Amino acid sequence: MPQRAYVIDEMISAKAIAARVEELAKEITQTFRGTDQLVVVGLLRGSFVFIADLVREIDLPVEVDFLEASSYGDAMESSREVRLIKDLSGEIQGRDVLVVEDIVDTGFTLHHVIHMLRARGPRRLETIALLDKPARREAEVKATWTGFEIPDEFVVGYGIDYAQRNRNLPFIGKVRFTEAE
Ligand code: PRP
Repeated sequence: MPQRAYVIDEMISAKAIAARVEELAKEITQTFRGTDQLVVVGLLRGSFVFIADLVREIDLPVEVDFLEASSYGDAMESSREVRLIKDLSGEIQGRDVLVVEDIVDTGFTLHHVIHMLRARGPRRLETIALLDKPARREAEVKATWTGFEIPDEFVVGYGIDYAQRNRNLPFIGKVRFTEAE
């Protein structure tokens, strides 16, 4: 449970997200046109809303799979390790793969996942992130497609949580704490 009182200010509306998802899905459909080998891989848990909307706008045969990674810092933030909690259910060797992230922050998660999946020999591997916070980047990584670049704000909604809450908001909101720590 969140420890501090907060309010949520809308940052990106549900309508703006839907319009952007439609645009991105058109580009993805174009890029992968002709393939019947596309596996769309969602990173749990944050991407579950985005991937659900995105695949419904992609006009290609797709398979959907999920993996869960967790990153945690030790004393040195920049040596952050990423652990695999849940692996894919299917094989991706020789397949076209689209990895779906909700947000790229330090970039450690996406960097690690790309590295791990490339080693399995996909025919093609591309990435999409709904949100990108370039100001926070520590690992060198950039998604093939980005929905929105955002400033270094604490965001929730559309799959993204604060202490496991607020994932079900239909918009992206900015958390504003109303109590001092
Ligand atoms: C969040 C988010 C990304 C990752 C981004 O996941 O969903 O996967 O962190 O951070 P990074 O770029 O600094 O690595 P989290 O570990 O909070 O799990 P969740 O998806 O279950 O919320």
